[in-house]
Amino acid sequence: MTTDKASEVLAAWEVSSQYWNKHQALIEKMFAILSHALIEDAHIGPGQTVLDVGGGSGEPSLTIAPIVGESGSVIYTDPAAGMVNSARAEAERRGLQNIRFHQCPAEQLPFSDHSFDAAVSRLSAMFFRDVLDSLREVLRVVKPGGYMAFVVWAARDVNPFFSVVTEVLDRFVPADDEDENAPGAFRFDRPGKLKKALQEAGAAQVIERELAFMIEAPINVEHFWKLRTEMSDTFRSKLKKLTADQVLIIRDTVQKAVADYFKTGAMSFPAKALVVSGKSFGVR
Ligand SMILES: C[S@@+](CC[C@H](N)C(=O)[O-])C[C@H]1O[C@@H](n2cnc3c(N)ncnc32)[C@H](O)[C@@H]1O
Repeated sequence: MTTDKASEVLAAWEVSSQYWNKHQALIEKMFAILSHALIEDAHIGPGQTVLDVGGGSGEPSLTIAPIVGESGSVIYTDPAAGMVNSARAEAERRGLQNIRFHQCPAEQLPFSDHSFDAAVSRLSAMFFRDVLDSLREVLRVVKPGGYMAFVVWAARDVNPFFSVVTEVLDRFVPADDEDENAPGAFRFDRPGKLKKALQEAGAAQVIERELAFMIEAPINVEHFWKLRTEMSDTFRSKLKKLTADQVLIIRDTVQKAVADYFKTGAMSFPAKALVVSGKSFGVR
């Protein structure tokens, strides 16, 4: 990826951070199961020192901190300053004393070799500028024998939380051809793709499992529209190109298209993610 493109991706996350901050509580609730899957697959327990790569508005760091407890610690990292500030503020609000915060990308982790018992990354690996460099960095800083786990989205068509809005928006602002290796939510949707990259980076005992779950929250269709269109840089950019009337038509079309997922009076979308984990042999 060119330096310009990488700066563009980061700038988009910087803008997104205000919305991820705004919707922090909902994001935590909707994707809680993903944090727990990482905790399980990275074998995280009391007393450990754990690295979180691309922690966004705070997950999974905020969930891991009470699990590792006072004798352990969590080192949160993210390259977007707004994300770091948002996560730090939330940790302070909760009185969590065992999280430290670093603004850095996965490609350049400012830590010594073998600093961590485990490393996790929730929904961030698909945005790494250089996937192999990033995975090698994670391997470098994890102690020999330590685990690392990453969670990424499975295919868009089994994730209506994303696909419904995309399909409607694409009718109004056609999507550019997607480069399957460019940063994006579905960069690792093909089974085996991230697994192969982690093996290539040098991890041992790499496994991938599919996680089917429900994205649930006590919100209505209007709230869903706001959440989706604010959180996603792609949606924000596309909507900016449209007139107010066009946006209203799209909003109504989306709200009708997702109605089935709100039948109970709250939001409930089926979803699928891939959890890829492995073990460090140490520096290679
Ligand atoms: C979809 S958000 C996920 C945030 C959080 N982990 C969560 O699950 O709520 C993706 C995050 O990846 C971060 N990111 C983007 N490029 C990155 C890179 N090169 N290295 C590490 N993180 C990166 C973004 O700043 C953003 O916070």
